[in-house]
Amino acid sequence: MSKLIIANWKMNPRSRREAQELARASDTEGLVICPPFVFLDDVSMALSRSKLGAQDAFWEEDGPYTGEVSVEELKDLGVEYVIVGHSERRNNLGETDEMIAKKMLAVLRAGITPILCVGETRMEREDGKTKEVIGRELEIDLSEIFNFQFSILNSLVIAYEPIWAIGTGTPDTPENMLDMVKFIKSRLSGIFKVISHKLRVQIIYGGSVNGKNAELFLKHPEIDGALVGGASLEPDEIKKIVEIGKKH
Ligand code: PGA
Repeated sequence: MSKLIIANWKMNPRSRREAQELARASDTEGLVICPPFVFLDDVSMALSRSKLGAQDAFWEEDGPYTGEVSVEELKDLGVEYVIVGHSERRNNLGETDEMIAKKMLAVLRAGITPILCVGETRMEREDGKTKEVIGRELEIDLSEIFNFQFSILNSLVIAYEPIWAIGTGTPDTPENMLDMVKFIKSRLSGIFKVISHKLRVQIIYGGSVNGKNAELFLKHPEIDGALVGGASLEPDEIKKIVEIGKKH
């Protein structure tokens, strides 16, 4: 099965023209492009093969929430995926697991696919607390949706992104990722009360993925794709990652 590759442009590029150019140059089947909100419409118009994603969404439908963007507004622009709970939002903006839980509910209710990001800090990893942290994040982040229909839950995407691996050029090892996939699956089966082999939730890896190391992760059938930041700003790199994903 071909892999799910997500391009997270973060707060890049700086202009509409650059965003359109980057979108046109990256447009590939099998890729989801998540530009900043302000470029969603331009990017949408530039794409014919890739799908459109957003980097966040607010949980209320409308109202007095200055600066926020609702799932309905995103849907109207053709957004099919939303990144929820990225560590940069958790750390820079104080986004809590309780807020993330509300966002997960709003996104799923709107019929958009959420990409829930979880990950531990370097210190938590060194202290042997990775599973404790990820387990807690999953438990709270999914607490509003645990009783959803099975078919809807199966549309979830979970991105395991160790914080220390993001933007550092040092990815996690594929072996650890495989261990985390097993752990995440077993936690999900506990939360959703289903046998783990029936779960079809996609579990993807993020953190310093590039054209050179993508194969190490994507060759494993257990790893369903990659969330790519820095390398997604280079069309040749992201296309290479998508190609690798198609081989496996
Ligand atoms: P990176 O970012 O690929 O630049 O490490 C990944 C992410 O933050 O989603």
